[in-house]
Order: sequence, then structure tokens, then C-alpha cells
Amino acid sequence: MMEDILAYMHNFPAAGAKGPFTGLSAAWSCPSNIALVKYWGKRDGQLPVNPSLSMTLTQAVTRTRLTVAAETCEPGLASVNGDPGHPFLGKLRVLHRWFCETIPALRPLALTVETRNTFPHSSGIASSASGLGAFALCMLDLAGLLTKAGTAQDEFMRAASMAARIGSGSACRSLFGGFAWWGESPLMGESSDQYAVKIRNGIHPEMYGLRDAILVISSRPKELPSSAGHRAMDRHPFREGRISHAGENLRELLDALASGDFGKLADIAENEALTLHSLMMSARPGVILLQPGTLEAIARVREARRAGVPVCFTIDAGANLHLLYPATASADVERLISEALRPLCENELVIYDSCGTGPVRLAETQPLA
Ligand code: PMV
Repeated sequence: MMEDILAYMHNFPAAGAKGPFTGLSAAWSCPSNIALVKYWGKRDGQLPVNPSLSMTLTQAVTRTRLTVAAETCEPGLASVNGDPGHPFLGKLRVLHRWFCETIPALRPLALTVETRNTFPHSSGIASSASGLGAFALCMLDLAGLLTKAGTAQDEFMRAASMAARIGSGSACRSLFGGFAWWGESPLMGESSDQYAVKIRNGIHPEMYGLRDAILVISSRPKELPSSAGHRAMDRHPFREGRISHAGENLRELLDALASGDFGKLADIAENEALTLHSLMMSARPGVILLQPGTLEAIARVREARRAGVPVCFTIDAGANLHLLYPATASADVERLISEALRPLCENELVIYDSCGTGPVRLAETQPLA
């Protein structure tokens, strides 16, 4: 399958449209995703040591437009939003290099990059999944536009997922609406370590209504870049245990998603979040990313659940909590947030999001903001 995808990409230049391409552009909106079973630990570069499963979001998106600059410009990416020192430029260049190696038609192009996140810059929400997803979609789209190659939807998304993975592992799951799976496993048909797949069957309709309220406990940049966290798993004493534990959680989560059992989903999502942080704490050197506000929020969420509110949390490699709850519990959870949780957040910032339908291609003239 991976060979098929690479062949699909290599075939773009075969159609051979002629330049000049100046002014040609591609624009996409790509959402972020939140993992319910976490990817933690890599092998052979950008491949996961265990499969992971995520929910794609709606509101937290990156909108990106790539435009081919004049032929007199130096090929490559000179800046992002006109800023040659933009913090995202390094990550985009890594992915751009990979694209140029894979699709030769892209090599001579100078590209301008405009990109906007819908979530506040200082929210502590990582933009790498949505940002690299949007960039991968634009690059692939541009390659198709250059050569007038037809783009079959499934193959296109799979190729974009594979490319996004090169930029950031978890980004590969952002290319599909609903729930996505990344990592080869007998539990998921057509699954691969190279790209994510959309979970097409066996999701209870109510699960597509899940909400995610992000409690911004701290917007400070992470003390532990995720690449260092993944590396620490190489020699982690609990590595093998974690791999089989993730497999058990995935099996149970698939059951919970199929039956619409929120209680079971809550149990697994929280276990995954706490396991991720336990692995970081028990690595050498150990890292603690949870803040006092995170722990207090966890206690209050669990108390609310004991009192009958269907709500649970998950956390990525940071201090912020994602509250998951069914749409039917929105009023109760919003009350809980305003009364007990918002005061724990930095600048009282809470971002409301929900399960979404995946990336969208933007019209040529559509503004990004
Ligand atoms: O995609 P990366 O390399 O930034 O790793 C992200 C890992 C977690 O967000 C902690 C978990 C996940 O599966 O998204």
C-alpha cells in the first residue's frame, strides 16, 4: 500500500503540465485532533511504536494557502506570513524537503506561505497537527494542479496523511473526519504505520456528537518537546508494558465507540492521559508537565462525574485539559466549567470544540482569517 501511495505521488509529474506556474495557489483548512489512545514512542524515524486513535476537531483549525512566486525567486520557502524568522518555518521546511524529494515537479518552485490558526496563539494548543496537515494538503494539491493529475479522494487523503506524518506523527490523523487510527494492527483493517485511516464502521452515532472543551491551564511552551519525549521511550523501563497496554486500551475503546458507552470511553481516555504523564515522569530524566491547576481540575471533573455528569478528561504532553462529554451534557458541563473550572485557567481561557468532519479545500480567493 505504501508503495502505491509513493507511486501515486511520483505519478504527478508524469502528466507534465508546462509552466510558468506563477500565481498558481492551493488552500486548505485542516483541523487539529485529540488522541484518546496516545502515540508515545517512535521507531525508524517517524513510525509509531504503538497504534493510536484520535477524534478530529472542528473549531481548532489551521488555514493555509501556498502560492507559486515569480520564477526569479529562489526555490523553496523563504518565509511564513512574510516573516523569515517565523517559528513554524523550520518544521515546514523539513516537510517541504520531503515533498521535493518525492515529487520532483515541486523542486523548482518558490512558494509563499500564508497560514492562520483559529485558536489563540497564546493558548498553549499545539498547531503542529493542523498546521502540518494543511501544509501537506496544499503541497499535494499544488502538485496535482501543476500537472493536471486527477486526485482520487481516498488516495489523495492517504498520501496527505503519509506526508503530514513526516512533519509530525500525530498530524497524520488530522486528515480524516470523525475518528482516525494510525498504526498497523489486526484490530483495524487497512491500518498502516505509514499513514492514518478513517474509522469508517462501528462508531455509534452519538459518538460523532462528542464535545471537547479545552481548559487552558498554562499557555507556556512545553518544557519537553514531544520529540524528546518520544526518544525517552527508546530505553524506557516500561516500554514493552506500554505497548501491550495501549493495545488493550484500543480494543476496549473500539467497543466503547461502537456501543456508545461514554463511561467506558471516559475510563480509557483518563487512563491514557495519566499513563502518558506517568511515562514522562518515570523516564530519565523524569519530566512533570502537570501543573497544580491541572490536578485540581482533574479532581473537580472526577467529582462531577461521581455526581452524575458524563464528563471526562484527556491531556496531551502539556498541562491543559481536554474535557470530553456527550452533546446532551453540554448545559451541565458548561455550568461546571463556569462555576468550578474556568477560574483554574490562565486568563480564564476555555476553548469549546467538538468532533468534526475533517479538512476542507478552500476557494482560491477565500480569505484565511
Ligand atoms: O506528533 P507529535 O510528535 O507531536 O507527538 C504527539 C504525541 C501526543 O500528542 C502526546 C499523543 C498523540 O497521540 O497525539
